[in-house]
Amino acid sequence: MSSLMIKINRLWIFAAFSVIYVALSACSHFSLSPPSARRPVTAFVVLGEEGTQIARALTEEVQCPLIKMDGVSERMEARAPAGTLPPRPRLLAPVAAKPAAFPILTCEKRLPSKIRRASIDGHPLPLKKAAPQRIIVMGDTGCRMQQGGAGFQACNDSGQFAFAQVVQLAARWKPDLVIHVGDYHYRETPCPAGNTGCANSPWGYGYDTWREDFFKPADPLLRAAPWVMVRGNHEICARAGQGWWRFLDPRPLSPGRDCNDPADDQKGDHSDPYAIPIGDNMQLIVLDSSNTSNKKIKPDDIRFHQYRTLYTQLETLAQRAQHNMVLLHHPLLGFVGNYPNPNDLAHPLPENIGLQSVFRMLNPHLLPSNIDLVMSGHVHLFEQLSFSTAHPSQFVVGISGSQLETVPVPATLAPDITPAAGARVKNFDVWTGFGYMTMERIRSSEWDVQVWNSAGQPVRKCRIVGRVSHCEAVQ
Ligand SMILES: [Fe+2]
Repeated sequence: MSSLMIKINRLWIFAAFSVIYVALSACSHFSLSPPSARRPVTAFVVLGEEGTQIARALTEEVQCPLIKMDGVSERMEARAPAGTLPPRPRLLAPVAAKPAAFPILTCEKRLPSKIRRASIDGHPLPLKKAAPQRIIVMGDTGCRMQQGGAGFQACNDSGQFAFAQVVQLAARWKPDLVIHVGDYHYRETPCPAGNTGCANSPWGYGYDTWREDFFKPADPLLRAAPWVMVRGNHEICARAGQGWWRFLDPRPLSPGRDCNDPADDQKGDHSDPYAIPIGDNMQLIVLDSSNTSNKKIKPDDIRFHQYRTLYTQLETLAQRAQHNMVLLHHPLLGFVGNYPNPNDLAHPLPENIGLQSVFRMLNPHLLPSNIDLVMSGHVHLFEQLSFSTAHPSQFVVGISGSQLETVPVPATLAPDITPAAGARVKNFDVWTGFGYMTMERIRSSEWDVQVWNSAGQPVRKCRIVGRVSHCEAVQ
């Protein structure tokens, strides 16, 4: 064989091996690297009490990865082991018999307050800014699969389930901070046979569903900025609470709060509020409203005492700053369409009667006077309300992927329509479509807000000054 032929054969062999190597490396379940060097499946930073930064990593390895903090490497701590949890009673009967499998180790590390750089296995983590100027607000992001309830969304169609598109656009905007106002997990029951819209989707409460509904589409934005995670009603113990506690809640995962034993659900379904300072004498206050309902809560209900205590804790936390933005999944001062009577567009129903019934007994204006803003989701619309009475502005951003509301809220309100007794609406706006909201800080408590659709076009421009807000359509 001539030397030229030998060279050509070598080139072919090299090329063939290169192709095999690239193909295998691209597969998340196979790596030619030694196991200890494998990157975590996902890594992110969640902000917790007092703005503490908690690094989290999910890994298929048996031990947690190393985290490098300002040049010093340490091994991350195990938060929740890999394993399959036994079945437990669920809100939706078809899921009750299915064990929740988490074949993935959850790791964490509380970062020092003055840290400048952090990375996990060489992959940099996004760190908090003392005074974030650019904030993304999004909510209600999973793909609905709910037998006997709201039905099945076409999860395989990015036009019908737009979370991945919304994430790409939001990450391109280069935020300093991301706020998710709750409801991450929606794929609860199996996709019906013959339904191509959601065919082959995972379902139930294990990691495979969390990956498809949240971690995979959210990845570019988890890499872009630290997140504030608000808990939604889809993350109560009888739904996706086990995943909520092991993956997203910033606080320690303590026994009895992991949603594994239904006997502990009263503990697992409720959390104390916490504050995150964001500079300029302003803070975010995160509330867990996941277990409320849109009905009056009676004094003999455990939630009556829990939300009463939550109000007093909120009042104490709010005293630490001149301006406060409350983050809670359920709107306190918003609307949902008139579902019992969809033809009655003039009378949208208020959200959330449960919280209002408890808070009103402590304060007729529902919230302390230094709360400027309430950011919520739950209702799958964009809404903005500002009041001529002593109430904070309410924004609703439940538009970031989950099936949108099928019963509209009217574009204008009759003068007597209010989301809460004693509150008089001054400015009101509503928009329906997939998208997200951006907030740019002008100065303390003043924000330029825009709402963007899933094509990346602005649909609303708003201005917030203290408790007053106003939005207008972008033509
Ligand atoms: Fe919700």
